[in-house]
Amino acid sequence: MIGKTVKHNPKTILVTGGAGFIGSNFVHYWLEKYPNERIIVLDALTYAGNRANLTTAEKNPQFKFIHGDILDSDLVGKLLDGEQIDTIVHFAAESHVDRSIHGPDAFLKTNIEGTHSLLKAAKKIWLDGGEKDHRFHHVSTDEVYGTLEPAAPAFTEQHQYKPNSPYAASKASSDHIVRSYHHTYGLNTTISNCSNNYGPYQFPEKLIPLVIANCIDGKLLPIYGDGKQIRDWLYVNDHNRGIDLIIRNGESDNTYNIGGNNEWTNIDIVILICELMDQHDPKGAPHNRLVSYVTDRLGHDRRYAIDASKIMSELGYKPEETFETGIRQTIQWYLDNERWWRKVMDGSYREWLNKNYN
Ligand code: NAD
Ligand code: TYD
Repeated sequence: MIGKTVKHNPKTILVTGGAGFIGSNFVHYWLEKYPNERIIVLDALTYAGNRANLTTAEKNPQFKFIHGDILDSDLVGKLLDGEQIDTIVHFAAESHVDRSIHGPDAFLKTNIEGTHSLLKAAKKIWLDGGEKDHRFHHVSTDEVYGTLEPAAPAFTEQHQYKPNSPYAASKASSDHIVRSYHHTYGLNTTISNCSNNYGPYQFPEKLIPLVIANCIDGKLLPIYGDGKQIRDWLYVNDHNRGIDLIIRNGESDNTYNIGGNNEWTNIDIVILICELMDQHDPKGAPHNRLVSYVTDRLGHDRRYAIDASKIMSELGYKPEETFETGIRQTIQWYLDNERWWRKVMDGSYREWLNKNYN
């Protein structure tokens, strides 16, 4: 194997997609934990990116925001060189499965071509003129593995890739391209495939924040199909802790699954959120009266489950948040930050919902 590294000590990191849900949580986590490391966000500010997610970070002299596109390989090359970046943490993507069903093109463009554009810039600056200390971490999803039967063992890193949605297929493709840049050129790359995240700053088109927002507004809670699909939920900063361990101690060319060992059916999650909302707003109770079964998602994956034993045994990873504490914290964040989610739900998102779901 070429380009193998085990320990990496980042000094200046580039976070792509750092104005989105997981990326912005990552920035806050990183600035607090590593006050001596510089962090630069590159984000195109699509509908899912919001500079307001980074308001506190913008006050920190170690932080810089660049409004730009990962498809702009020249810009990325100049940033890597000019800012002496030694680490890329690549979150930028189109990330919502429903949108990928209605309009796959943007997913192929950003997730596949965008990732390749970053890799090209990284190779040019970090390898072509003599190798510099570097690490490229690619943030991916458990959806690349496809769907599981109810009693099947959880996905390990050896599980065959069988992506079902255009979103999952675009992420699977990007994983392969990242891997090829290690094997062909010797770029130091790592990949994480994580389960469903939840927490602050998640755009309310995804299940958990949508249900919280609709409970607050007394709107219907759309349950696709029979609601018995299963997802494995992880608190967002438990994902970020895993990425942190991989960047510093993970072995190049390795893939690590990250998950919470926390499988729930969609309907059970929605009922749990309704019960917690009943405690907060007894006048609106019972919130489960808002549950509304709707037409199923096309090609809907039945079950995802992650076997995270590799990252646990090799890198000492352990999620810190229980679902009980994480979901309470998340609900409280949406209650405390109504202005934030009302603002992001206005405009283009409403337009998109109306166009595609009448
Ligand atoms: P998100 O949709 O909230 O954020 C994506 C961010 O990327 C936004 O800030 C957007 O403006 C930016 N972006 C999009 N296209 C860009 C481009 N061409 N150039 C620069 N920036 C661009 O996504 P998220 O939920 O935070 O997910 C982040 C990453 O984690 C994605 O790669 C996703 O596949 C992966 N992931 C997400 C989950 C989850 O549950 N949300 C789980 C596992 C993996
Ligand atoms: P989502 O949050 O979109 O994440 P993903 O598709 O990446 O797993 O959806 C989580 C689950 O919830 C998924 O099985 C689809 C389902 N779902 C609903 O039933 N209703 C909804 O309104 C949404 C957005 C999702």
